[in-house]
Amino acid sequence: MPTIPGDKSISHRSIIIPSISNGVCEVNNLLKSEDVLHTLEAFKSMGVNILENKKKIIIYGKGLSSLQKSKKEIYLGNSGTSARLLTGLLCNQKFKSVLTGDKSLSNRPMERIASPLIEMDAKIYTTNGSLPISIEGGNLKPIDIDLKIPSAQIKSGILLAALNTKGETKITEHKITRDHTEIMLEAFGADIRVDKKNNKKIIKLFGQKELFPKNIDVPNDLSSSAFFIVSALINKNSHVTLKNINNNPTRNGIILALKKMGARIKLFNERKNNNENICDIEVKSSNLRGCDLGPEFADLMIDEYPILAVAASFANSPSVFRGLKELRIKESDRLKLILLNLQNCGVDCNSENDNLFINPSQNYKIKKNLIRTDFDHRIAMAFCVMGTKIGPLKIEDAESINTSFPNFKSEFNNLGGNIF
Ligand code: S3P
Repeated sequence: MPTIPGDKSISHRSIIIPSISNGVCEVNNLLKSEDVLHTLEAFKSMGVNILENKKKIIIYGKGLSSLQKSKKEIYLGNSGTSARLLTGLLCNQKFKSVLTGDKSLSNRPMERIASPLIEMDAKIYTTNGSLPISIEGGNLKPIDIDLKIPSAQIKSGILLAALNTKGETKITEHKITRDHTEIMLEAFGADIRVDKKNNKKIIKLFGQKELFPKNIDVPNDLSSSAFFIVSALINKNSHVTLKNINNNPTRNGIILALKKMGARIKLFNERKNNNENICDIEVKSSNLRGCDLGPEFADLMIDEYPILAVAASFANSPSVFRGLKELRIKESDRLKLILLNLQNCGVDCNSENDNLFINPSQNYKIKKNLIRTDFDHRIAMAFCVMGTKIGPLKIEDAESINTSFPNFKSEFNNLGGNIF
């Protein structure tokens, strides 16, 4: 049985929120991948006392305004989640911060988080809309904002800014985005209310209420599980069970999509932990059929299109995945790289208006054996799975996998994979 690491989104939040709570929090099963370690280092550099041992970390929070100016620039590597959430958090801590990142992160759009915060009076200076970002902490005013871009990172950045802002901040979402921040803030006693009506979600947060400390058990990551789920589905005589997986309904589009394609996936032991849904997952080799997924799926599984595209390449009929605009600005232009790499693997696929079309066939003839990843971990892992069917494939810059799944190679090879 593969060991799936802790959820990346929840791990970031499990460092950020305890660090500004009022007491000692134990975090179990934190994902120790490069992205999350950058968040951890950022808080240590801002004076938070964090003890680490093999199984858990202990964070000594000292309250909403307790962070201290970092002695140096805060380097966040490849992690968009760290950059956007920290921009929100730091704009009302009373000091100046500078956030930097690697080449890929420095090309990603940050105006989307800076501009709502600037509406709250934040003093944020991006570099042509990207990192490096300078932030001069000061008092903010609350806002009432309609989220134009469906993004959990933007929503969470605003919520973290609102936490230390006097008054009520109101966020209206018209599309679903992952809700780990709301769930965790509620568990830590924030004055937060979430209402859902007519396909809208309204979040109200009343700021400057101190958070109480809480222990966290990070569930395992469904996005990381997806590579094992699809490997089992597309390879004959496979059967795999994954345990303790986060099955948050704002993020489980990959399960819904694969079931629509006829996948033999069973969820069992469904339970809750700190209001996050958890389950175990059993997967068996399946004859997949193609499917037509509307843009509403993109809200529920934006990170899973690379691996879903691999699954669709082994279905017995064509697939269309619609509304993939946001895929273009992830760790890479994922839509471009899915197309390029599938085509190099011999798959007939194309895109039009941010929709992806895949026409699978029985036999693939590799046209160019070099998978381009642009240092994107999910592209690299998806094409490792592709390699189990048509490989061996050469994958460029595969060390990017360490940003989310440091043990991927050994777990994958233990199950019969052959990454070397
Ligand atoms: C994340 C939100 C998503 C997702 C990313 C993690 C988060 O990004 O793609 O991998 O932890 O909030 P967007 O908010 O930009 O959609």
